[in-house]
Amino acid sequence: MTAQISTDVDTEHLRPLLEQLSLEDKAALVQGADFWTTVPLPQIGLRAMTLSDGPAGVRGPRWDEREPSLNLPSGSALAASWDDALAYRYGAAAASEARRKDVDVVLGPTINLHRSPLGGRHFECFSEDPELTSGLAAAYVRGLQDNGVAACPKHYVANDSETDRFTVDVQLDDRPLRELYLAPFERAVADAGAWTIMSAYNSVRGVTMTENDLLETPLNSEWGFDGVVISDWTAVRSLDAVAASQDLAMPGPAPAWAGLVDAVREGRVSESDLDRKVLRLLLLAERVGALGSDAAVTPAPVDARAFAREAAVEGTVLLANDGVLPLSPALSRIAVIGHNALEARTQGGGSATVLPEQIVTPLEGIRTAFANAEVAYEIGAVVQEGVAEIPLSQITNPATGLPGVRVSFFDADGAELFAEDRRSTALVWFGGDAPIAASRRVVLEADYVAAETGEIELGFAGGNPGLLQVDGETVLDEAPVVEGTDLGAAFLNPPSLTATVAVQAGVARRIRLELRVNESESPLSGALSATLGIAPERTDPDELIARAVASAADAEVAVVVVGTNSKVESEGYDRTDLALPGRQDDLVRAVAATGTPTVVVVNAGSPVELPWAHDVAAIVQGYFGGQEFGTAVADVLTGTAEPGGRLPTTWPAALADVPVAEVTPTDGALAYTEGIHIGYRAWLKDAVAPAFPFGHGLGYTTWSWGAAQRDGDALEVTLANTGDRPGKHVVQVYAERADSSIERPVRWLVGYGVVRAAAGQTVTARIPLPDRRFAHWADAWEVEPGAFTLRIGASAVDAPLEFGWDVAAG
Ligand code: BGC
Repeated sequence: MTAQISTDVDTEHLRPLLEQLSLEDKAALVQGADFWTTVPLPQIGLRAMTLSDGPAGVRGPRWDEREPSLNLPSGSALAASWDDALAYRYGAAAASEARRKDVDVVLGPTINLHRSPLGGRHFECFSEDPELTSGLAAAYVRGLQDNGVAACPKHYVANDSETDRFTVDVQLDDRPLRELYLAPFERAVADAGAWTIMSAYNSVRGVTMTENDLLETPLNSEWGFDGVVISDWTAVRSLDAVAASQDLAMPGPAPAWAGLVDAVREGRVSESDLDRKVLRLLLLAERVGALGSDAAVTPAPVDARAFAREAAVEGTVLLANDGVLPLSPALSRIAVIGHNALEARTQGGGSATVLPEQIVTPLEGIRTAFANAEVAYEIGAVVQEGVAEIPLSQITNPATGLPGVRVSFFDADGAELFAEDRRSTALVWFGGDAPIAASRRVVLEADYVAAETGEIELGFAGGNPGLLQVDGETVLDEAPVVEGTDLGAAFLNPPSLTATVAVQAGVARRIRLELRVNESESPLSGALSATLGIAPERTDPDELIARAVASAADAEVAVVVVGTNSKVESEGYDRTDLALPGRQDDLVRAVAATGTPTVVVVNAGSPVELPWAHDVAAIVQGYFGGQEFGTAVADVLTGTAEPGGRLPTTWPAALADVPVAEVTPTDGALAYTEGIHIGYRAWLKDAVAPAFPFGHGLGYTTWSWGAAQRDGDALEVTLANTGDRPGKHVVQVYAERADSSIERPVRWLVGYGVVRAAAGQTVTARIPLPDRRFAHWADAWEVEPGAFTLRIGASAVDAPLEFGWDVAAG
């Protein structure tokens, strides 16, 4: 089906440049030059533009620890702040990182919805609610673009889960499409003016998104999008995407568009469709300062680490507290327990990964905050399975004598093509200088010195066969078995193999890993992922719990950091359950049973079951809190900072209770049969109580609700901090329409606002409520005139203030 292409975008001033280009130039420009850049056309003063993942920071065109990035808290943590002003600053921080790395387009924010808690990229998305997602998305886009860097809201549209993501056909009606899934994209484009958008892998109603009419309507024709639709990586399937409003095929050159020049010459593809794309790319180039003299905006300076810490605090949700928090500064013995306390997950896995220079773990954060206390540590339960990179302090690069590993690339004849000295043994080549496609063997070499005599589980992770040798002796010669069919998953979260190797403290062992690469054709043949590493020791799990219990019993307070691992929350697959991995539930129960007050910090990017929730003194949901996660955890535990977060998504007590959970397609299709009822709307409809409702989160002070009043299109809500310390609160406004003539959610969020108040202070939140917040989709936006009831409060189920709100006929 050929869409009616809108032509009213203001690119006429760029037409003289277009006219200087050959058909070949134009066909090249609408496809990437490589993984991350567009094609430069110096004859018209156009330099290459660089696109980069984030969005919780900016990785840059090379996946390389030698070029580190700021690692901000993940999307769900940002959403937990409920703070548009913070989201704006988050975008500005990303812009500053982008410019530092010569990046023009940040591939984010990820604004698909938390339709099911099983969604694998839940951590990267904001919320189950379209209004909260929209507000934050628009703010993030403005923060980036006000600083001269393009945002790329993704993935347009209905990429709300990962199972069969390349092919799944999402079936949904117009109302949920418009009112839920398109809504955040609409705000990001129509209000914030996003300069690019990313089309998704999946199909919607039978048509793959890079060829779907939704790229034209509503995106262009209704919302006035004048930017570039960038495909998700390899999502362009055929030349049919040229006639759709798909502008840039990434990465490039795109095999599906290899015949573009011939297709235009033979009249199978219209040159004016191609020209339209080129004009939009030139407009983008102008906006980011890539056309003519370099006029890129210099972003405002950001104190990156301080901002990462503040954002993590603002996104930390205090779920429960019997009064143990804030912890007393006078504590003298604290037991810190948990694998994630030592190896915190500061971000989710997959393409969103950035490589921070430094991470503060919860254990370090707590030790620093309680410098005079004895802080004991026990792992308690193994969470991160498979190999983890070898600490830099234990490896020497034989070529340089410095900490690190030597990596050499050889062709089929054994000639060395390239070598590099890396400072990490967890390596990904996805773009960058190494000649992966031309290589047949990649060899990693390092001298390893163990700290203790004993046995280690040495091995490697990756999708390629490998030969692992220690001092010339083969310990592994195998191929890890890749599960599933998602290439991205195999690449970004690969399986690992290990062998037990005896080591002696202080004695160097030469480790050599030889990988066989490019033995078969793959769309990712220019990319490689390999980790040389050590897996956790195989200690009896009961013994680990027993040691943790002994440590807790001996302490004044136990802080147990539980969490997920990279096998649970990443890209390319969904979760199959909501349980904490390994023996963590047994661990928390056993520690709580000691009678020592037990505070649990949850280090997960999405909801997990907390079956022991009533047995512990406090629960802090920390999300994937970015590189300052540990500092932020300590800030919240000590009360140095108010836990600023409120849940952006309902937390179920058990997966079985979740009203909308299904992410597995049937015969290739995933039907959103629940319509407009997702998240708390569905929980309210089914009258099932979750463990913690949407919007919930405690602080360290108390509040009393005052009056609400209307001022034009805004609602003003007064509330007082009745406690004895300053605090933050999030005023949430929900609408109801009991006598509606159409199907409605029981209650839906129409506005929200952050307030901060000193002890004893009364403050007023002003929350704009334009009529559109009350509209529904019936082939156009319509407002049912008459009285809506507003419920105002602290969560979707705790909204004590009631206020009538009349909306006139639209
Ligand atoms: C992901 C995108 C990402 C792209 C480039 C894709 O697999 O879905 O979110 O921006 O890869 O890494």
